[in-house]
Amino acid sequence: MRKIVLLISLLAGVAALGIVGTHVGASRSPLLVTPDASDSQPGPRRFPAGFFWGVAIAGQQAERQQPSDWTAFEDDAFRHGRFGTGPTLGEALPGNIHDLGQWSATVRRDKAGFETMHAADLDMAQSMGLNAFRFSIEWARLFPRAGMGAPDPAGVAYYKTLIGEMKARGITPFATLFHYASPAWFFEPDAAGRKGWERPDAMASWQAYVDAVAANFIPDVSQWCTLNEPMVYLYSGYMEGTYPPLDKRQRVEDAAPVLQALLRAHAIAYRTLHRVAAERHVEADVGITENTLSFEPLRNWAPLDRLTAQAIDQAWNWDFLDAIQTGRMKLANTDVDVPIAGLAGTEDYVGINYYSRTYVKADLFHPDAPQILLHDPDAHDEPFNDLGWASYPHGFYLVLTKAGRRYGKPIHVLENGTADRADNDVARQKFLREHVREAWLARERGGADVRSYIHWSLFDNFEWADGFDARFGLVAVDYENGFKRTPRPSAKLFADIAHANALPADALRP
Ligand code: BGC
Repeated sequence: MRKIVLLISLLAGVAALGIVGTHVGASRSPLLVTPDASDSQPGPRRFPAGFFWGVAIAGQQAERQQPSDWTAFEDDAFRHGRFGTGPTLGEALPGNIHDLGQWSATVRRDKAGFETMHAADLDMAQSMGLNAFRFSIEWARLFPRAGMGAPDPAGVAYYKTLIGEMKARGITPFATLFHYASPAWFFEPDAAGRKGWERPDAMASWQAYVDAVAANFIPDVSQWCTLNEPMVYLYSGYMEGTYPPLDKRQRVEDAAPVLQALLRAHAIAYRTLHRVAAERHVEADVGITENTLSFEPLRNWAPLDRLTAQAIDQAWNWDFLDAIQTGRMKLANTDVDVPIAGLAGTEDYVGINYYSRTYVKADLFHPDAPQILLHDPDAHDEPFNDLGWASYPHGFYLVLTKAGRRYGKPIHVLENGTADRADNDVARQKFLREHVREAWLARERGGADVRSYIHWSLFDNFEWADGFDARFGLVAVDYENGFKRTPRPSAKLFADIAHANALPADALRP
């Protein structure tokens, strides 16, 4: 799994004991709290009026390819037949895309077909009772060519239509600016070989894109996510080498300039969106969303497993959000500590994406190279999905409540879901029920101001280097039959939840 393998490198450079310094004395990791078994009240678990129930997609995964770095990678992987993965789905080999060769040119280009099917897809979302839809405004669609002084009118028109269709159906658009993909030209090296976020003109290019977004889509959009999962982008793209630009840097310090640029980009977007919203006398709700994992010591009795799990938790889950709060990029387990002008406090909410738990097994003789396991090999009844990710609903509660306590801000859950190919999707239904219950508990018991639950995803789509075989959709897509949509049972369950604005009591039965 891309998110895990490289986590190991989070500890590279400064060995675990360097990390431990900050955490010695923490007697019990919050990850070790016993699940709350006392939620036994009868009746539905109600959510407050105005709570957002929604689904999420991203352009590169669901719509026609744009001239982006990802499109260049996909086309190159296809041309050279790089379709390999590790032993199981979810272990993409760097430079490969799982099984890409088995799909037609139309599927590879159009992904889930949202480009032409959006009206019907939004009808479906509306009939499910959803009031939020998360999507991305692709930089490469607005600025497909280098040096453009204004955005492409066709690109602007596409999003205007989409946003208009959402609003006409009573659905609030949640727009993401950067969801991993950027224009291919952004990654052309300059004379000194610098590309992407490390180009000296990167911020100017980004500013032009953000200006165009703000000018065209405020006031129609007020919910903004500037960056999707910056840590996944950093590790997959710059260390593991499974996402463009396919770099394999050894140490976190070597990739830190990219993180610094992303923090600057976030601050620029935050300020621009707020400035334009204020000029137009409307509100803007702006933040980023973080990929969070529940890190569990494999052996609870082993202090080094516990300390290492805490250290990785800090680096992966909180470093980036902490930087936004404090205005300093301080990377755990390294000496990196850099102030970033204009960054402190640029967050109206905390965005949480949560999928699974992982186990950390440390080695006393190699503390900087712990094993990260997707599920506990000895817990034979532990549920895990088609990508091998262990389902751990209570971890969702822990992350939400920790984020609530840590930042004191509203929380938007911008992704939660699972890969389940089965037509009856029993596992997805269980996952959905259990995670919505934990979101409710986090609000009602844990004091977390959770304001939305947005499921990944409405329909099956292109799962990055894992290709089309990882099926995250509430609705199945038939790629061999014109992208035909067939709702899975979990779509009905989610519709029941959204219509009731509550988790029905009978939904909690096993
Ligand atoms: C990403 C999505 C992805 C999903 C499932 C998140 O990491 O934001 O783009 O499809 O998880 O892996």
